[in-house]
Amino acid sequence: MKLLVTGGAGYIGSITTRLLLDAGHEVVVLDNLSTGFPEAVAPGVTLVDADIRDAGRVLTPAAGFDAVLHFAGLIAAGESMARPELYWDHNVIRSLALLDAVRAARVPRFVFSSTAAVYGNPTELPITESAVKAPTSTYGATKLTFDHALTSEAFAHGLAAVSLRYFNVAGAYLRPDGTAVGERHDPETHLIPIALQVAAGKRDKLQLFGDDYPTPDGTCVRDYIHVEDLARAHLLALDAATPSEHRIFNLGNGNGFSNRQVVEAVREVTGVDLPVEIAPRRSGDPAALVASSAKARSELGWVPEKDTLQAMISDAWEFYHGHVAR
Ligand SMILES: NC(=O)c1ccc[n+]([C@@H]2O[C@H](COP(=O)([O-])OP(=O)(O)OC[C@H]3O[C@@H](n4cnc5c(N)ncnc54)[C@H](O)[C@@H]3O)[C@@H](O)[C@H]2O)c1
Repeated sequence: MKLLVTGGAGYIGSITTRLLLDAGHEVVVLDNLSTGFPEAVAPGVTLVDADIRDAGRVLTPAAGFDAVLHFAGLIAAGESMARPELYWDHNVIRSLALLDAVRAARVPRFVFSSTAAVYGNPTELPITESAVKAPTSTYGATKLTFDHALTSEAFAHGLAAVSLRYFNVAGAYLRPDGTAVGERHDPETHLIPIALQVAAGKRDKLQLFGDDYPTPDGTCVRDYIHVEDLARAHLLALDAATPSEHRIFNLGNGNGFSNRQVVEAVREVTGVDLPVEIAPRRSGDPAALVASSAKARSELGWVPEKDTLQAMISDAWEFYHGHVAR
């Protein structure tokens, strides 16, 4: 297939691009490089340095794209509460402009990077796709809004749409030929890369927000998924996309790991006894977020292969220590 990957210079989009190329697809990346890195784009792939609101420049009827994979967006829940207008603009207004271009170019398939943040504080665990959607951040609200837009687009215009709701993504893409692509968000807001920055001496200490949650060790529990397992799900989603349907799948391991378990695993992998400070709870942080990915497993045939914390952290550490922190 000929594919347009928006956000293909970012963490997840650049890794998924590599798996798409391995599977024999042709890929064009569209990215405005606001948080992405040109060197993360897979070699040989055309990088169009443009905003998604201008996607019509690339997505013409003559270009013959078979699908768009839409990773581009703003991703920090905390920032979305301080600057909501940015998130509504990028994740909704500009994404709707992308959808206009998709319709005008008659692109038949669309795969969207949605998020566990659409669910907010879960009323039951594990979280299934039919759980109550009550986002506690503007980020989650914008992603849910675009999910709704895809539902109506599929209904009204026949788009084969798939939303993949990622839980916490971790790990890196490493190959024996030296290829290494991983997480480089700035500022970093995710626990594992922050812990690795502490292990590498780039930060003084790791803060854990709250140790009095109703969880086995009192710290928050989250569901982590290896970025390669996540990327593979996009290939399955392309195959499963069905005209006039909006299919939605959670992607997580179905296993929760507490913040303290993450710290212990980082200590084991890096050999560094990182200093940890317990800070007050952050408002809006649910005690536990664990996915049910039963639907992705049964309907997409998706099976995570790197589902241990050790696998995710050792890949992330090899990337960070070997390629970023040097
Ligand atoms: N990283 C996670 O744990 C996680 C979890 C759930 C969902 N997601 C979703 O996955 C997607 C990718 O996340 P990521 O971690 O790779 O983020 P990232 O910041 O590394 O990548 C996003 C990419 O999109 C580009 N971009 C942003 N706005 C753009 C615009 N208006 N036009 C063109 N390009 C634009 C950036 O330059 C960047 O290359 C996001 O949509 C995010 O909401 C990520």
